[in-house]
Formats: sequence, C-alpha cells, structure tokens
Amino acid sequence: MTRIGIDDIAFYTSNFYLDLHILAEKRNTDHDKYASGIGIEKIGIPAPDEDIITMGANAAIQILEQCDRHKIDTLLFATESSVDQSKSAAVFVHRLLDLPSECRTVELKQACYSSTAAVQIACALVARNPEKSVLVISSDIARYDLESAGEATQGCGAVAMLIKADPRILSIEPGSGCYSADTWDFWRPNYCSNPKVDGKFSIINYIRTAKECWKNLAKNTGVDFNSIYRFCYHLPFSTMGLKAHIKLGKEMSAGKTQQELEAQVLPSTVCCRQIGNCYSASAYIALCSLLDNEQDLAGKNVAIFGYGSGCAGEFYYGVVSDSYQKMLRTDHNKKLLSAREAIDFSTYLEFYQASDTKKYQDGNYTTPAVTPGMFRFSGIRNHARMYDRCADDL
Ligand code: COA
Repeated sequence: MTRIGIDDIAFYTSNFYLDLHILAEKRNTDHDKYASGIGIEKIGIPAPDEDIITMGANAAIQILEQCDRHKIDTLLFATESSVDQSKSAAVFVHRLLDLPSECRTVELKQACYSSTAAVQIACALVARNPEKSVLVISSDIARYDLESAGEATQGCGAVAMLIKADPRILSIEPGSGCYSADTWDFWRPNYCSNPKVDGKFSIINYIRTAKECWKNLAKNTGVDFNSIYRFCYHLPFSTMGLKAHIKLGKEMSAGKTQQELEAQVLPSTVCCRQIGNCYSASAYIALCSLLDNEQDLAGKNVAIFGYGSGCAGEFYYGVVSDSYQKMLRTDHNKKLLSAREAIDFSTYLEFYQASDTKKYQDGNYTTPAVTPGMFRFSGIRNHARMYDRCADDL
C-alpha cells in the first residue's frame, strides 16, 4: 500500500509579540499563572497589515520554493478567523503563491479542528491520485476580549504542509478516531468580532473529546497507547495538552509515570509558549516544535490530536520517516522566533484595535506598512482585499 503523509512542513508567525510580564502587570495578575498555570510566556500579535492570508502565504512559500508546484492539484485552507463570508482564503493564497490555475481551492472551518480534517481529506485525495500532492495551509489569529480570561491565550500563526505519497517526514497510518457533539464551549456569531467562551467547560469538553477520540482510534486501528513515542495536541495554551495527556495516559498507559507522560508532550509545546494560541494551526505548529526539539524520531510513532470547540476532534498517528531530519528548518524556525520585536502595551492596544473592520465599511482603506514579512495586506479597494508581495527572499 502507498504510504501517504506529510512530506514537508513550515510555519510562520508575526514579527511582533507581547511579553506576558507586561500583561500580568497591567491586569494585576501573578505572572506565574501565565508562565506555569497556562504555560505561555509571549503571545504573537499581528501587525495591522497582517492577516491569515499573509501568514499562510509566508508559511507556504517556504515549501513551494523547494517542490514542484505543478504537482499540487488541491489547496485546502483551514481557519476559524476567516476574512470573507464567501470567498475562500485559499483563493487569495493561490494567487500570491502563483499556483497552477487547474488547482482545486477551498476553505474549511470547524473551530481549531479544521486543519486535521484538511490533513485527512488531503491523504484521501492523494490516495486517489498518488502522482499529485495537496497543499494544506492552516492559519489563525486567536483573539479574545481585552481584560477577559482568554486575553493571555491570544496568539497568531500559520502552518503549511505538503501531503503526498512517499512522504519524507511523517507517514500517516490509515484509520483514526473521531468524536463530534453539538456543544457551546466556544463560538463566534457572525455579528461578533471576538468569540463567546465558556472557558472552564471548554477544558472539560476538550479532555472528554480527547478520551473519546483515543478510544475510537484504538477500536478502529488496534493501536496500543504504549506504542506511541510522542504526542502532539491542539494547544490553546501549552498546559492544556499536558493536562489532557496526563489524564489520558493514566487511563490508557500500562503504568507510565507523570514524568514519563510529560516527556511525551513537552517538546511539542516549546513554540506554543513563545507564540500563544494559533487556533487551527496550533496542533501542527506543535508538530514543528516536536520535530525541532526532539533528538531522534526516525521510525517512531507520533500521535496527533486535533480539537475544535463546538465540538469535533480526531486522534490519528503516523511513523516518522528515516530521513526526516534533512527536511527540517530548525535554525530558520528558531531565528523566526528569536528575531521578533517585543512591543509595549500601548502598541499592543493599537495593533489590537487595528483589526476592527468598521473602518472598511466605505469600501476603501490603506493599511500602514508595518510587517517585514514577504506578503502584506495593503488595504481595501472597492471592498476587495489587496495584498502585496514585498520581498523576493525569505
Ligand atoms: N501560579 C501558578 N499557577 C496558577 C496561578 C499562579 N499564581 N494562578 C492560577 N494558576 C493555574 C490554575 O491552577 C490553573 O491550572 P489548573 O487548571 O491546572 O488548576 C491555571 O493556572 C489557569 O488558572 P484559572 O484560574 O483556571 O484561569 P482562568 O479562569 O483565568 O482562565 C482559561 C483559564 C483557560 C479558562 C481561559 O484562559 C480561557 O477562557 N481561555 C480561552 C478558552 C480556551 O483556551 N479553552 C481551552 C480548550 S479549547
């Protein structure tokens, strides 16, 4: 049977971040609650001329510079912070990336879960035509009300993955475990720019969904918890994945200690601590984090859990390819995070207010040039969103 999975993976985040020491002081909160309790130190804040399209294009261009773009016959864009009610983010990015016109383009939504649905759909498409590849982009801006419990769990980021036959990073095993239920833990009505959240319930719902998905994965594939070396979870904040894994592991593993269980997840949480929540992109930025921060994964099983409030979840696993290290961008990724610019509290508020869309309502608006990224959102002309490619080098 043809092996299908992740052949290449790259991520991107804004060049700007807010250090949570600053937020802790302004919100009169113990910084340890952020650093230890939720496990986030810095949150990525998009510049006024960045959005899911620019971040997604900035992630994907890294992959496209090293593959045959004419073999890509589908672009799936997973997001829950969409920029248009009708036109898919995939179409915008398709032009920016100069993909073939015969490419299929579509956007997927189910809160933070849609990236995992996109990966599974991509695998099915490649199984139908193993000569072709599918580009999956997942990009989100996690935004909550100012002074809300969720404020410290904001963030932004995008991940791009090339799904193809004979993958050089992760062969995804057929079969997975899904779970869906109609719940109200997190949602964003069309008339709201920020989500409605029942934070405590969302944690309970996440853990319940992880357990149900694992049980369904085990039932469908016969996989044993102890055969999985490392786990990547959707990370709305880094301790969420750890908390869920410890609860799951105590039930499913044959006597693994808390320390052993933590070691199975911690390498995948390094980026989340530096970026914050990236909604649908977060489980796959966790995978990038694992690949960059763990020593030797060749031949090992890695499980991935995608969760989207509302709710839908899926657990699946894959086998890391022998030559995966040749595909890594570890130095580039570390530099991407370390070279970011820290912003002060008033700039944070300015960037936060900049995403208010009321100013677009007369149909024309020019955004200030701020991001140093390759792609930028330059404004609105006659209600159409405009994008520029600003640089030729990564
Ligand atoms: N030092 C160290 N840890 C501290 C602390 C301190 N001073 N103060 C609190 N903590 C710990 C708490 O014990 C808790 O950990 P625990 O759950 O393991 O006990 C954690 O920090 C969070 O504290 P809590 O009081 O529960 O935070 P909160 O009520 O302000 O909000 C969320 C937490 C997650 C509910 C909130 O950030 C939110 O609504 N986020 C958005 C929704 C979300 O991300 N949901 C996740 C599933 S998708």
